[in-house]
Amino acid sequence: MSDTAFEIIRNLFYLLAAALFIFGIKGLGHPRTAVRGNLLGAAGMLLAIVVTLVDRQILGWGWIIVGLVIGTGVGVVVAVRIQMTAMPQLVALFNGFGGIASAIVAGAFVAKAADSRQVAFATIASGIIGAVTFSGSVLAFAKLQGLVSGRPNTNPLFKVGNAVSTLAALAVGYAFLMNPGLEWIYWGLFLIALVVGVFLVLPIGGADMPVIICLLNSYSGLAAAATGFVISNTVLIIAGSLVGASGLILTRIMCVAMNRSLINVLFGVMAEVGEGPSADEIYAGKVKSTTPEEVAMLFDGARRVLIVPGYGMAVAQAQHVVRDLANVLEAQGVDVEFGIHPVAGRMPGHMNVLLAEADVPYDKLKEMDEVNSTMEQVDVVMVIGANDVVNPDARENPESPIAGMPIINVDKAKTVVVVKRSLNPGFAGIPNPLFAADNCLMMYGDGKQAVLELVGALKAG
Ligand code: TAP
Repeated sequence: MSDTAFEIIRNLFYLLAAALFIFGIKGLGHPRTAVRGNLLGAAGMLLAIVVTLVDRQILGWGWIIVGLVIGTGVGVVVAVRIQMTAMPQLVALFNGFGGIASAIVAGAFVAKAADSRQVAFATIASGIIGAVTFSGSVLAFAKLQGLVSGRPNTNPLFKVGNAVSTLAALAVGYAFLMNPGLEWIYWGLFLIALVVGVFLVLPIGGADMPVIICLLNSYSGLAAAATGFVISNTVLIIAGSLVGASGLILTRIMCVAMNRSLINVLFGVMAEVGEGPSADEIYAGKVKSTTPEEVAMLFDGARRVLIVPGYGMAVAQAQHVVRDLANVLEAQGVDVEFGIHPVAGRMPGHMNVLLAEADVPYDKLKEMDEVNSTMEQVDVVMVIGANDVVNPDARENPESPIAGMPIINVDKAKTVVVVKRSLNPGFAGIPNPLFAADNCLMMYGDGKQAVLELVGALKAG
């Protein structure tokens, strides 16, 4: 086959892979089509890899198979063993590996930078963004895993370190542009960019880490796209750009859902708990506790029930008993829906994934705006392990650290039952006046055990 014919066929396959990526992402946009979307994306990636391997033949097949076996083995073990609550850390590591892989590949082709200004620019971009992504992601992993303190730190030295290392990286990048192809300058740039990544993530608290992980995800895509320009691989440019753009969109969605700007996440800290009333003042004498048996009686008279899950449902792994509760109520003629807040839990889509795992039908999951519009007609809201995302202070108290964050207005329903172990705060570390509201009852206990007892009481009744 002539070279031109082979090139045309290769590019057609790359086009097909790119189309599969795009249809895959579109499929991921809805739970019903997500599995198919995932498969389409994976098929596109397999096609892109096979075509690239056949096209390039830089390495012997032996090395490629060794790499595939090791990578698949590690991937399968990690995927099987990972706890759902540790998913953000895992995603952080994956981003970091993607970033360093892009920077190393660009480094292996560093001599090509002498070919043109465009390739030299792409090499610099890949080295800087890939290294920042790697060190930033490893640090994000360490913070979420508790290996490094997750407290936000406003020490001005971090800002100075950030500015100095960024300027140094740009200066060395310029030196590389003037001397393209010089390997030691590239690796010097890579090392300085590692420091930039550390200073980027070091001041940021655990609270904002999921936003940073989304941003680093976007960076890993940009690094891959830049490497695509270095090695002239169209499909890498397309895949990297898709990851870069979707990561940025997700970062924005999360910032909006938490009512924060990206600048505020990167350079500020979440507002400190102000001088407002203490938890004792808010709760004293006003909190009413209840039992599963009483809640079962409450459900007997209910026609519309809304279940609002949060991080505690993930911790308790209560999603299966929650589904059982919904099934029992529906069998008794109650209309049951789930209200899903966009940042409930600790990662985007956390609640959707858990409830899908428990086979809760997708059409039962309603978004925040939809449930808020009819909240007054709900007889009983059952809040399971959620706290910040149902805190009315966000709506009513301009001094609150979460002021302005959109919430699910469960306090506007006729009755609210909150399942959690204590009056302890959630992620934002602030008290929740909902627990002291007249229409609120606290059902204390571990999410799974409490709901199990409630289901037992409903069946017994
Ligand atoms: P949180 O406000 O964090 O509250 C979770 C509650 O679950 C806690 O108050 C805890 O109370 C309870 N809990 C823990 N273990 C439990 C168990 N085994 N059984 C029953 N309850 C249990 O959760 P949320 O309402 O889902 O809000 C999420 C927070 O995370 C928001 O502040 C959001 O901004 C932040 N955040 C989310 C994301 C994403 S993408 N989801 C990203 C960054 C930040 P007890 O200890 O009393 O049981």
